[in-house]
Formats: sequence, structure tokens, C-alpha cells
Amino acid sequence: MVNNLPVGIMDSGIGGMTVAREIRKLLPHESLIYLADQEMLPYGNKSANQICLRMQALCAWMQQRYHIKALVIACNTATAAAAHTLRSRLPIPVIGMEPAVKPAARVTRNRRIGILATEGTLKSARFAGLLKTFAQGLHVSTQPCPGLVEAIETGHLSQIESLLRQYIQPLQHRQVDTIVLGCTHYPLVRDLIAKIAGDDIRLIDTGQAVAQHTAHLLMQHNLLHPLTGTGTLTVATTASANSLQSLLPRLFPDMAINHVTSLQPDPPPRL
Ligand code: DGL
Repeated sequence: MVNNLPVGIMDSGIGGMTVAREIRKLLPHESLIYLADQEMLPYGNKSANQICLRMQALCAWMQQRYHIKALVIACNTATAAAAHTLRSRLPIPVIGMEPAVKPAARVTRNRRIGILATEGTLKSARFAGLLKTFAQGLHVSTQPCPGLVEAIETGHLSQIESLLRQYIQPLQHRQVDTIVLGCTHYPLVRDLIAKIAGDDIRLIDTGQAVAQHTAHLLMQHNLLHPLTGTGTLTVATTASANSLQSLLPRLFPDMAINHVTSLQPDPPPRL
């Protein structure tokens, strides 16, 4: 039965696990296959075309190997680059994500919002459309964050902190009262961002909203898992699985991970 099949979740690295965690909370019966394309990380400085081709190759692998019933692109950068193509080519529901401009527009009190995201996300046509639709009349400050995703993946705390100070300071100068975490890696350092930004700035991310949208789409397509009980969580990487084996339980102590595996030595075609 199709309903018993797993949901696929993809990101360039471990950031999308912040979305997987929300999906796990909301849909505990679903089995999840999480794919981290760490061999190609970061996506933020790659062209949309490169990311789109890579995502297509990875999706083909996910479908062949795990027969996923739906795909969640747990990456703002990859959604901007590839969601449209994947939706037109895959025979399964595809859930994407984008920086939380709309919720930020709702909660800002001084109408000044800041957006932290990758270069790829900020220069995409999808992001321009998002601003046009939801940010009319707002003072929006965008801040690309080169190097931050790599620092978060390697866990270099002093490097993470100095990059965050460098990227948050311009937003503080422009007196934003709301900062959108427009990359799924950033919620992993949310406490540090909050400490640097200070109490007067509200932080917003989209993990929970993506989980809700996933639940809604599965229901709409009659794809919700029919059984009770907890589904399994498999994590696959295009790089070596060794570092993930020890890193993931530390970062996500509340998530039981059944299996960590590597696509090597037979990864999909390189970018
Ligand atoms: N987590 C990805 C995102 O949400 C990071 C992209 C990257 O690898 O640069 O955009």
C-alpha cells in the first residue's frame, strides 16, 4: 500500500533535520528518509541550474531506493532552485519552503524586518516574488551569510559566533524588530542568534509551518500512514556517515534515529 511508504526529506546537510524534527512531532507514525547532500554542501553559493540537476539525480535515487510517497525539500535554497522542476517531473507531492516573510510581516511592530538566508535564496526570482507579494510597505533588510552553513556543519563555535555577529549587526543598525531565519541550518544556532540579537528582536523560522503543510498535503492525497506506532527515521548522506553517527544524537537527542547510511561508493552524479 502506498500509504506505508516513507516520506523523503532533503537538504544540503543537517539543517533540514530541524524540519524533520517538526514533521516527526506532528506525524509520528510516518517513516522518514532524510538525505543530506553533504558532498555538495553548501548549496548557497551554487547556481540554480547546478542545484536543480543535482536534486533531480538525488530524487531519482530516493525513489528507486526507498519508493518515497512524498518529498519535502527542507532547504530554502534548493526550493528556490528546483521546486518548480521537481513538481513538474515527480509523480508524488513535493513540499517546498521559503523564508517566513509573510509571518514576519504579520508580527513586526515597527515594520522593519531582517532576513538571514543564503546568497542563492536571496538572489532567486522566487524570493523577489515573495517580497513583492508580502512585504509591500515594509522596510526589508536582507543579509546573505556566506560561510555560516559550513561553520554550523563543522560545529566551530567561535567561528559561528563571529560570523553571526558580523551578519546580525547590520540588521540591528537598521533597527529591525523581527529576523527571519531563512535557512534551515540557522535554527540549529537559534539560541546564539537570540543572544546576539537581544531580547527586543523576535526570531521566526518555518519548520513547524512546513510540517503542517506536509500533514495537510498527505491528507489531501490520501497518503497518511494508516497505522499507529512510531515510524522509522533513516538518515543518508552523500558523504561519509561516520561524523553523522556521533553528531546527530548530540544535536537531536529527542529523535530516535534507526539507521545512518552513506550513498558512497555509489553516489548520484556530481554537480
Ligand atoms: N539548509 C539550506 C537552506 O535552507 C542551506 C543551503 C546551503 O547549503 O547553503 O537554504
